[in-house]
Amino acid sequence: MKICIFGASGYVGSSVYVRLRSGSADEIVGTYLDDPAMSEGLYKLDVNEPESFSNFYKEENPDVVIWTVMSGPNEHKLTDQGLMHLITHLTPETKLIYISSDFVFSDGKGPYHEDDPTSTLPDDHTFSNYANAKVKAEHFIENELSNFVILRAGPIYGENRIGKLDERTDRLSYHLRSDRKVDFRDDLTRSFVHVEDLATVIEEMVYNDVTGIYHVGPEEKQSFYVFMKSMAKQLGYNDELVIKGSEEEKVDTEIPKDTSLITKKISEVSKVKFR
Ligand SMILES: NC(=O)c1ccc[n+]([C@@H]2O[C@H](COP(=O)([O-])OP(=O)(O)OC[C@H]3O[C@@H](n4cnc5c(N)ncnc54)[C@H](OP(=O)(O)O)[C@@H]3O)[C@@H](O)[C@H]2O)c1
Repeated sequence: MKICIFGASGYVGSSVYVRLRSGSADEIVGTYLDDPAMSEGLYKLDVNEPESFSNFYKEENPDVVIWTVMSGPNEHKLTDQGLMHLITHLTPETKLIYISSDFVFSDGKGPYHEDDPTSTLPDDHTFSNYANAKVKAEHFIENELSNFVILRAGPIYGENRIGKLDERTDRLSYHLRSDRKVDFRDDLTRSFVHVEDLATVIEEMVYNDVTGIYHVGPEEKQSFYVFMKSMAKQLGYNDELVIKGSEEEKVDTEIPKDTSLITKKISEVSKVKFR
């Protein structure tokens, strides 16, 4: 079997790529965009480039595709071009594992079940590009494919397989190392998921025949403030340096308040015990 990871040099993609390469007898290929690539053997590819995408895909012809590509402000382009190129090449036998986000529930009135309706943000909102592109990507996938898994995740944290930390924990450690205060908001509620737990679920999805939409993460939901305070403790820092951030917001930049996810459904098909 051949498994292809698009975005294999990214935070999540690296973990999945290295994990599959070390633990599987299958053929694992991966792509990156910006040098340097985070792992050996990756193929440099811009998924938005139709010709190079098509050449690469026809050459590799994978049985499973894992899509961990992300490009914050250019997410619409990634969906309209990159993901569409992929969808035109996929056959019904090829399974797509797509990593989506809790931001598809941008009205922020969670917690959310898998079958709750998604929502978009006004076009001029700061987060509209990312959030709305994820909603659109999910629609494309659901309308065009049947052999797919969409895994929706809240903020992803922790050290990945190649020793990289998420940006928030990095910021936390940076401040606390030098005994400086750092603030996180207490009015934003999320389902935080460890990068290695997510990578394990992705690996399971490669080898099982589960399809559909699943929320990943623990049962517990937390605010950024509560989560980062407990993270500070876990890392051996003085958690009193973690303080509550301002909840004041400007019009058009309001952050969705509660995008937490109900994760019961994934526990029925996965052995992962989310930390
Ligand atoms: N991080 C989170 O907290 C979080 C939360 C919820 C959902 N997610 C989802 O999880 C997935 C992975 O996120 P991540 O945090 O691992 O993102 P990331 O670290 O930013 O990695 C994204 C990857 O996409 C690649 N990429 C971007 N534009 C590309 C293009 N035009 N052609 C080819 N490759 C391109 C980047 O390549 P280079 O690095 O080589 O340039 C990178 O490897 C995404 O779908 C994201 O929406 C993330």
